Amino acid sequence: MTGLLLTDALCERVRAARRVLVLTGSGVSAESGVPTFRDAQTGLWARYRPEALATPEAFARDPGLVWRWYQWRRQLVTRAEPNSAHRALVRWQALRPELVVVTQNVDGLHRRAGTRNLVELHGALDRYKCSRDQQPLDLAALQDSHVPPACPRCGAAVRPDVVWFGEILPQAELAAAHSAVQRCDLMLVVGTSGQVYPAAELPAMALDRGIPVVEVNPAETPLARSATHWLRADAGTALPALVGCLADPGGPPG
Ligand code: OAD
Repeated sequence: MTGLLLTDALCERVRAARRVLVLTGSGVSAESGVPTFRDAQTGLWARYRPEALATPEAFARDPGLVWRWYQWRRQLVTRAEPNSAHRALVRWQALRPELVVVTQNVDGLHRRAGTRNLVELHGALDRYKCSRDQQPLDLAALQDSHVPPACPRCGAAVRPDVVWFGEILPQAELAAAHSAVQRCDLMLVVGTSGQVYPAAELPAMALDRGIPVVEVNPAETPLARSATHWLRADAGTALPALVGCLADPGGPPG
């Protein structure tokens, strides 16, 4: 029982869709206890300044501070568990194997829930790379207690493999996101304020193609007016309800 009533039109769209694209932001992990970025009081950017912690300049200025902040965030997400929204997407994908999840989240919770066809646009807190040549590094294998550890090949500082402000997104992931927008027949946008580009332009690209876009967010965002449907609800309530459409006795159309 989810307590959320969906219109027949929306349920029918969910049943008919085969190539579903789900774009998620930090709101999808809020019910796992992971802070969002811009929510007043609780958002990370209400307590910390992005330019002091999440830029290449900040890392060059004070690598130890930035490293410790990211290790704190990594510990936080390691203790968190995927919630009913993450799990609902896994069930949806079992019924619609072409479903793609493009996430701006670095918390790894979609991966831990078992999502396949996952595009992590902003990197991941549990991956590391050399800050000089960007080659991936296995932190556990380094056995270096320096803060941050040094790259065993060149001695440069090791950094988290996440996208910082002012950096370009990993090109393969961005290309995968664009191709998913071009292929999808339904798009969901879940738990993102839509303020960070290029992720924020993906819903408009789908709408330009005439694809229905369903927004799931308890708060109004710039997308709410143009979205085909806006579910003003928490992800942990809305996503199980949407997957429930697939279990209707009528079953999916031919
Ligand atoms: P924001 O903090 O900007 O937005 C979070 C959104 O989640 C808001 O619109 C909330 O209303 C919504 N929300 C909160 N609780 C929710 C719930 N239970 N269910 C559904 N929605 C909920 O976070 P993002 O949009 O993810 O980038 O931020 C985008 C990027 O900005 C991040 O990836 C990060 C940040 O700076 C980088 O670090 C590069």
